[in-house]
Amino acid sequence: MRAAVCRTYGPPDVVAVEEIEAPALADGQVRVRIAAAAVNFPDVLIVANSYQISAPTPFVPGSEFAGVVVEVADDVSDVAVGEAVTGTGLVGAFAEEAVIAGGALQRLPDGIDLAIAAAFGVAHRTAYHVLRSVARVQAGEEVVVLGAGGGVGLAAVQLATLLGASVTAVASSQAKLDVASSYGARHLINHSDGDLRQALKDTLPGGGDVVIDPVGGDLAEPALRSLRRNGRFVTVGYASGTIPRIPLNLVLLKGIAILGFEFRSWALHEQTEFVRNEAELMSLLADRRATPHIGARFPLQDVVAAMRLVGDGQAIGKVVLEISSDDE
Ligand SMILES: NC(=O)c1ccc[n+]([C@@H]2O[C@H](COP(=O)([O-])OP(=O)(O)OC[C@H]3O[C@@H](n4cnc5c(N)ncnc54)[C@H](OP(=O)(O)O)[C@@H]3O)[C@@H](O)[C@H]2O)c1
Repeated sequence: MRAAVCRTYGPPDVVAVEEIEAPALADGQVRVRIAAAAVNFPDVLIVANSYQISAPTPFVPGSEFAGVVVEVADDVSDVAVGEAVTGTGLVGAFAEEAVIAGGALQRLPDGIDLAIAAAFGVAHRTAYHVLRSVARVQAGEEVVVLGAGGGVGLAAVQLATLLGASVTAVASSQAKLDVASSYGARHLINHSDGDLRQALKDTLPGGGDVVIDPVGGDLAEPALRSLRRNGRFVTVGYASGTIPRIPLNLVLLKGIAILGFEFRSWALHEQTEFVRNEAELMSLLADRRATPHIGARFPLQDVVAAMRLVGDGQAIGKVVLEISSDDE
């Protein structure tokens, strides 16, 4: 099978598409013919070996995919051959086939486009769990979203709007803000124009209720300062490369909360809400009320360009690799 392979850690350029042997199927596993894979920021970090978890080289990068089940081990009853599924893992998605535990796959609603399904993964799920259960966003609240043109940010704009919130999108370009606006953002702030603190004061004179922050760096503190009493700041990621240090007296004086979200530990420790939220999100997808924005599509051989776009923070919404089609 054709697959993107990382043989040595480094920038996206170290990844090359090669012909390699398809992985063997073990007990409990399922083989999926991958139609599309989403490129996520952590994929770039894993290839650079600067993610929280290391993948030993050589490996096939890629953490989420959608495709069709083509083979199941005898002891698998979760899914059947011919079913459309999505899956997430640490690596393995930038390839024509993946082998994965049957229980780790999610069946897709009928008729969902497989590129859309691949893009509707970690970003939407993260944004929804954060809004619904961590920030506990209520209809009518003011939600500020940093990185609002990126994968998690744009999903948060869309889903917070669906929850009835009024969204202020913060991003670095007009192109990103235009897309955020098309997904429901009410206020738009280009932070490259200057003082984010002042721009938030002008936009939300009464303050915000919630900040969703997948970026960190210099944007976090001015955004946190914009919160009003009982405001919630949720730290989700550090795409800027800098983990912010926040003076705790701000939390004390303003009467606000700083909360965190990490997908794996949240799924493990908050089972009841996790299962409820996942079901709600799947029904939003099935009804086409929440559809991810695919800002760019690439064939597998252009994996390096796709990873660069994400790594440089230039992607708008999701970037998808289109790997195989039904007629192959
Ligand atoms: N906690 C969790 O469980 C969880 C789950 C999923 C993702 N994450 C993390 O959340 C972060 C965002 O993920 P994402 O999928 O939304 O990423 P993304 O699509 O690449 O968007 C990240 C945004 O960060 C901003 N940014 C600022 N400086 C950047 C830089 N030096 N390089 C790249 N982006 C930069 C950009 O926005 P502007 O330039 O427009 O401001 C960009 O749109 C990542 O750190 C990811 O690892 C965490």
